[in-house]
Amino acid sequence: MRNFTYQNGTKLIFGKDTEKLVGHEIAQYTTKVLLHYGGGSIKKTKLYETVLTSLNNANIEVIELPGVQPNPRLSLVHEGIKMCREQNITFILAVGGGSVIDSAKAIAAGVPYEGDVWDLFCGTPITKDCLPVGTILTIPAAGSETSSGSVITNEENGLKRSCGHSSMRPVFSILNPELTYTLPMYQTACGIADMLAHVLERYFTNEPSVDVTDRLCEATMKAIIKNGRRVMNDPMNYDLRAELMLAGMIAHNGSLDVGRLGDWASHELEHELSGQYDIAHGAGLAIIFPAWMKFVYKHDVQRFAQFGHRVFDLEINLNNLEETALRAIECLEHFFKELNLPTRFTEAHLPTDEIELLAQKLVSHCESVGNFVKIYKEDALAIYQLAL
Ligand code: NZQ
Ligand code: ZN
Repeated sequence: MRNFTYQNGTKLIFGKDTEKLVGHEIAQYTTKVLLHYGGGSIKKTKLYETVLTSLNNANIEVIELPGVQPNPRLSLVHEGIKMCREQNITFILAVGGGSVIDSAKAIAAGVPYEGDVWDLFCGTPITKDCLPVGTILTIPAAGSETSSGSVITNEENGLKRSCGHSSMRPVFSILNPELTYTLPMYQTACGIADMLAHVLERYFTNEPSVDVTDRLCEATMKAIIKNGRRVMNDPMNYDLRAELMLAGMIAHNGSLDVGRLGDWASHELEHELSGQYDIAHGAGLAIIFPAWMKFVYKHDVQRFAQFGHRVFDLEINLNNLEETALRAIECLEHFFKELNLPTRFTEAHLPTDEIELLAQKLVSHCESVGNFVKIYKEDALAIYQLAL
């Protein structure tokens, strides 16, 4: 097991009606807030009114910046930075999903940075603390509600890139599972795929002696699969929504990979899809992950067989571990199909003749991606090919 330091300071407020506490929480930091949200789902539900009432009751001045799109765009981040600087705003409240939260985090990082915030997504280290961000989560998926990262798309070149800093973790996140009842089933499914992928990225490691975190990962994956299957037929069930909201947070709060090095190649391979074609991140992962697995499983057949046995209850074929490993990959792909997600480029209507461009973009900022197996350009091409 590797040495590690783990600190996650995000205060979690979980459960029914908790969004009403937002004014009280923010009053501890400021009297003026940038309210950042997406394309309008929070207005279709009563969430927008509830948030404004809570902020008004706490005497907090509200400046609004709506319009965050899924796969959040750099131009809106620039606008937010300008607004915060001109109006002396020092706290950002993100109400929405990963896209809104990531956009808020990027603004929070950009305000104290003298150059173009995009630099921070291209490798320039963040050296000044970000503005504090608070969140009200409306879709369990990206895990951005407790993560230290942000992912932004530069719409001028279709590059989707991430950056991170410990001060980027939200100071508080409010998680009310009831707020997720209105999610379309497709978004619910994309969220399930994303949170499962966050555990898988951590699970496939070369680190020996990681039994505790292996078991934590396996338990979390089992819970995601069980509750994910059920919620597709019972979307108004509070308990199922609550399990998924908790799982999505745990999957990406950094606790499952203490002492081990995760992989993350599938995320990088996927970000080229959502950056280029604006597909939902979770759907992109359902396409990429099985293909990545088919490409790398021989690197550690034992681990793939363990995954199949402990997560999908497969019997291990001791005479032929490879057979168990391949069945495990089939089980994962089948689960994504059960969620009605695409598992191939063609099923998502993505072009099949541009994978050279995707692979080229992937390695434009680094020689290889991934840690379990290093993926170079030719490998990326082979993985995209397997996913066509
Ligand atoms: O914009 P609105 O109208 O709010 O609609 C959103 C959006 O269209 C809708 N939605 C959200 N909550 C809803 C709702 N509709 C009805 N009822 C609700 N309660 O859902 C759509 C998708 O929202 P989005 O925020 O894009 O989804 P998600 O949370 O999956 O976030 C995806 C983004 O997060 C990034 C992804 O790359 C992608 O850009 N990620 C961020 C990470 C991080 N910061 O740590 C890690 C992840 O791996 C991921 O890369
Ligand atoms: Zn993800």
